[in-house]
Amino acid sequence: MTSIGIVTRTLLGKNTLNANRIVVSNIGIKFYSTAPAYENIKVEVVGSKKNVGLIQLNRPKALNALCKPLFVELGKAVNGFDADNSIAAIIITGNEKAFAAGADIKEMQNNTYSTNTKEGFLKEWEDISNCGKPIIAAVNGFALGGGCELAMLCDIIYAGEKAKFGQPEINIGTIPGAGGTQRLPRYVGKSKAMEIVLTGNFIDAHEAEKMGLVSRVFPVEKLLEETIKLAERIGTHSPLIVKLAKQAVNQAFETTLKSGLQFEKSIFYGTFATEDRKEGMTAFIEKRPPNFKNE
Ligand code: CAA
Repeated sequence: MTSIGIVTRTLLGKNTLNANRIVVSNIGIKFYSTAPAYENIKVEVVGSKKNVGLIQLNRPKALNALCKPLFVELGKAVNGFDADNSIAAIIITGNEKAFAAGADIKEMQNNTYSTNTKEGFLKEWEDISNCGKPIIAAVNGFALGGGCELAMLCDIIYAGEKAKFGQPEINIGTIPGAGGTQRLPRYVGKSKAMEIVLTGNFIDAHEAEKMGLVSRVFPVEKLLEETIKLAERIGTHSPLIVKLAKQAVNQAFETTLKSGLQFEKSIFYGTFATEDRKEGMTAFIEKRPPNFKNE
């Protein structure tokens, strides 16, 4: 399949896909127009129904080190897809060598406590966790430091079999600063998280899967295809109910079991106020596929 990115790059000469507006071109292909010229990411819409937003981190020479301009662009692209009703799910990926080798060490080398505090260093990262739609990380190669933390900010992590995860900040005299000390123990438990954070050692994709950090591992060349299939599968459901389900699962990371169960119950009851819940159950009883309206 010729990707929209390739078609658009051919037409426009560079990565100029916009996360805000969709137009149908005179050659009948849906693509994003009037783009901000992203320098550090590539953005395209993929999948047989063109309902999957694909964001590729694109600083290959720096192993996709997560500099501020990259994160500003990533936030814009994620927010754009989140606001776009034609998009069911979002994928963030890198290249075969690196998903991302961490926050950009060269960029932050001369930061001080005072500048970090005054400027709110890494504040752009919150855009990712505020997204209402499912975000899937498709990780090939290194996912280190901020790269591992970015993957953990996503809702599901799929990995290629050569992926390597780690929190090696200890090697450079600091600690994880975008969730590594908080999210990693929630994924893998305290002892394993301590080992990873205190040694800086890397773990491979199969270990990461065994620990529960990654949900599935694929051959490198199959990873993106399988991740798109997952996004498309999610896209067969009601977007409204998908959003509520995501909120409910995420609540498990934020609260006690008792209040999490209360939250779940209120969301569950709330689905009964939606047209899509009614349609889903009616379609089941009438033995036909549901026709969800996102209402
Ligand atoms: N920041 C800036 N540049 C980086 C980088 C990073 N995190 N990781 C790699 N690069 C750059 C290298 O400096 C190098 O650039 P030059 O060619 O200009 O020298 C280029 O990418 C290729 O890297 P290597 O030559 O080192 O490649 P390698 O294959 O020999 O090693 C690696 C790969 C093991 C991933 C190694 O690059 C490495 O250890 N990177 C740093 C990993 C790290 O410490 N990440 C944590 C960052 S701190 C953080 O993320 C804080 C946080 O919690 C938010």
